[in-house]
Amino acid sequence: MNTVEIKQNASLQDLNSLALPAYAEYFCSVSGISQIQQALAFAREKGLQVTPLGGGSNMVIAGDIQGLVLHLDLKGMSSKPVANDQIEVTFAAGENWHEMVQLCLQKGWYGLENLALIPGNMGAAPIQNIGAYGVELCDLFVSLQAIEISTGELMVLDNKQCQFGYRDSVFKQAYKDRFLITHVCLRLSTQPTAQVQYPALAEALGDKAVTPELVSETVCRIRQQKLPDPADLPNAGSFFKNPLVPESGLDRLQSNGVQSPRYAQLDGTYKIPAAWLIDQCGFRGQRRGNVGVHEHQALVLVNYGGTGNQLLALATEIQDAVFAKFGIALEIEPRLYGV
Ligand code: EPU
Repeated sequence: MNTVEIKQNASLQDLNSLALPAYAEYFCSVSGISQIQQALAFAREKGLQVTPLGGGSNMVIAGDIQGLVLHLDLKGMSSKPVANDQIEVTFAAGENWHEMVQLCLQKGWYGLENLALIPGNMGAAPIQNIGAYGVELCDLFVSLQAIEISTGELMVLDNKQCQFGYRDSVFKQAYKDRFLITHVCLRLSTQPTAQVQYPALAEALGDKAVTPELVSETVCRIRQQKLPDPADLPNAGSFFKNPLVPESGLDRLQSNGVQSPRYAQLDGTYKIPAAWLIDQCGFRGQRRGNVGVHEHQALVLVNYGGTGNQLLALATEIQDAVFAKFGIALEIEPRLYGV
């Protein structure tokens, strides 16, 4: 059994996609279940709070993180054919999401193409039920394996138990901070399939013959045009959730004399693009010191070398302006740490 190495005062700047400067009081990288259990035992002994870290692409670190930051670096993948041209594939939490999307495509396992180029690791995908271009993780999700932080015990949760919603799951609600996700199992198709109803995707595909490979390439092209690569310009993807507004709430938007884009939801509400609201307030491409709003996608805040607090000050300025103009409260999507 490999023993774990626990460091003190470890920099997290290279481990979060916003490249925010911050330190972990204790830090440990783990690559297997027994290492996780050792690290959890250390935390219990010292009474430390445990903060899981995956790809670091959905976190805003405003200050140093007290306790133990546990970097989940488990690797590996296994598969099992199931009925009706389907295959169940189990991925370890530390595998990079996009690399797995590409690997599945090469193997002829289809369903993940619309989710190409989403930053982050496998283990984080269920927490916010990642989604893009008309597909959400929950559409493919079978189950996950997790370890309970307080006991070190392993358990399996199925799709229903994860209570998925729009950028939401039980891990952001009742089970917040209670589990570490170690493996994720998805059901994919061994027959080519394609989901192409999302307007921006349908438009980019035009009348070309659609294949899963083409969908993946097209999604990558659209994302690369609009979304900055965190390696070039640090960011955490969409900084706010798209607000859901009841029909009555559309009046204030209307009374501004501008017709906002809106997407009717099954529950009778409308999803309004937060990017559009922010854009209407004039923030796209704006900079405040060393932080700013991306020039091609108003929903993405970028870091030119600033701090978490500077970024959060800009987020508050945007929330206030959108609320003043439209009466809509924007909710921050990535998780805040060290506040
Ligand atoms: N728009 C603007 N100004 C902008 C950008 C967009 O007015 O600067 C308008 C567009 O014209 C369009 C609408 O906003 O009508 C929606 O834009 P887009 O299709 O780019 O999608 P989004 O709502 O901004 C969501 C997800 C993304 C996902 C895309 C594609 C959320 C919070 N964001 O963005 O997910 O990639 O759809 O499906 O749901 C993420 O969660 O980190 C993320 C990047």
